[in-house]
Amino acid sequence: MSFAANNPDQPRPLRVALAGIGVVGGGVIRLLEANRDLITRRAGRPVEIVALNARDRNKDRGIDLSAYNWVDDMGALAQSDDVDVIVEMIGGADGPALTLARQALGAGKALVTANKAMIAHHGLDLARIAEEKDTPLKYEAAVAGGIPVIKAIREGASANEIARVYGILNGTCNYILTLMEREGAGYDEALAAAQAEGYAEADPTFDVEGIDAAHKLSILASLCFGTKLDINAVSTSGIRNLIADDIREAEALGHRVRLIGMAERDAERGLYQRVQPCLVPADHPLAYVPGALNAVVAEGNFVGRLFFEGAGAGAGPTASAIVADIIDIARDEYGPAFAMPVEALDQAPIADAGARIGKHYVRLVVEDRIGVLAEIATTMRDAGVSIESFIQRGNGSNNGVVIVLVTHEGPADAIQNAAASLGSSDFSVAPPMVMPILAL
Ligand SMILES: NC(=O)c1ccc[n+]([C@@H]2O[C@H](COP(=O)([O-])OP(=O)(O)OC[C@H]3O[C@@H](n4cnc5c(N)ncnc54)[C@H](OP(=O)(O)O)[C@@H]3O)[C@@H](O)[C@H]2O)c1
Repeated sequence: MSFAANNPDQPRPLRVALAGIGVVGGGVIRLLEANRDLITRRAGRPVEIVALNARDRNKDRGIDLSAYNWVDDMGALAQSDDVDVIVEMIGGADGPALTLARQALGAGKALVTANKAMIAHHGLDLARIAEEKDTPLKYEAAVAGGIPVIKAIREGASANEIARVYGILNGTCNYILTLMEREGAGYDEALAAAQAEGYAEADPTFDVEGIDAAHKLSILASLCFGTKLDINAVSTSGIRNLIADDIREAEALGHRVRLIGMAERDAERGLYQRVQPCLVPADHPLAYVPGALNAVVAEGNFVGRLFFEGAGAGAGPTASAIVADIIDIARDEYGPAFAMPVEALDQAPIADAGARIGKHYVRLVVEDRIGVLAEIATTMRDAGVSIESFIQRGNGSNNGVVIVLVTHEGPADAIQNAAASLGSSDFSVAPPMVMPILAL
């Protein structure tokens, strides 16, 4: 099958096939069309779309695709001698995206993908195939959308030992949290607004439960620490149980609530990877990241603290990351997918996230009756949790009294278990919320 014509007067074009023409795929076509000349100069040769594939050929995508060659059989893209790069923009950890990725790399094609779920679950296997075939596997768009953080860590900071990487890795959650902050909205109201604005899916589970952020964190951890990517080692909790009082109380304590993905490598404790809502000091740059933006902080032993901020999603920013990968391939600039060969990545022991010591914010909503405060104090004492401050706010939300405790430093599990036990008592009227108070 031949998709492209040869022109002997031009440097050989890089021939690109696009699989998945949704939000991201449409953005890539628009970007390659709009910046064609500049991209040719930067890439050193033209980047040519030689084939398109998606599910429904007849769908109106709001772009004129008549100039492009539509291929119904995705597998044909991987087999064609006229395709150099396959750009996977279908989505899903497994299924057609993974089949295509394996076929493409197996056939020696370069693969560019925006698919964090697939990289988080199968990145190592795909990287092995890419190495065997000496072909590029690039995934800049899979982490923090338009922010060039993969390139920055993989290349710009590659001389550093990185002990910690953390950040706001999910724009939907950050949009919801900043709406709660600004409007005093409850979680359900803020989620509905995010859905109406197109920032949250009809089924927001992947975002609000922290799963999407976990995918991205596991990829960053592997890159930063030189460890084998392990999505199953990320402990995750989401933002569903937050109430408007949590945002207000955090503010009163000089903090803001953010869903933070954090990974640390420690010689003694091993590899810690956790996504959870946290109290971030109001003067930390992460506290100022508004709306659907993402931000990543990486701490290198020579460079110090690096901070990256930008759009974590959307057609334009995601296309920007994908086309940057394509330009690298056109220049023949690529290396191992995780900054070192798969065999050089090591297997760090998994740190017990529950043993992590820190101060915590604990919020309960309880019935306003005699004996409740004594019971809270007893449960905390029995769990070995020492309380630094205690706030009770009259009639709070959910028809109960809002109680906020700030603990002294203690192991996360003990504090979580004590809160869970209080949450299951007959005086509790809403699920408790426990958040670490970050000292960054
Ligand atoms: N959206 C963002 O802002 C963003 C940001 C960063 C990364 N990503 C990642 O980018 C990828 C694509 O996201 P998206 O938002 O562009 O998704 P999307 O709008 O739902 O588009 C998915 C595309 O894949 C096609 N597709 C789905 N199943 C297929 C199948 N079985 N065979 C062939 N084509 C199939 C669809 O075809 P039809 O159009 O014909 O139905 C559609 O064109 C995902 O991995 C996502 O995580 C997205």
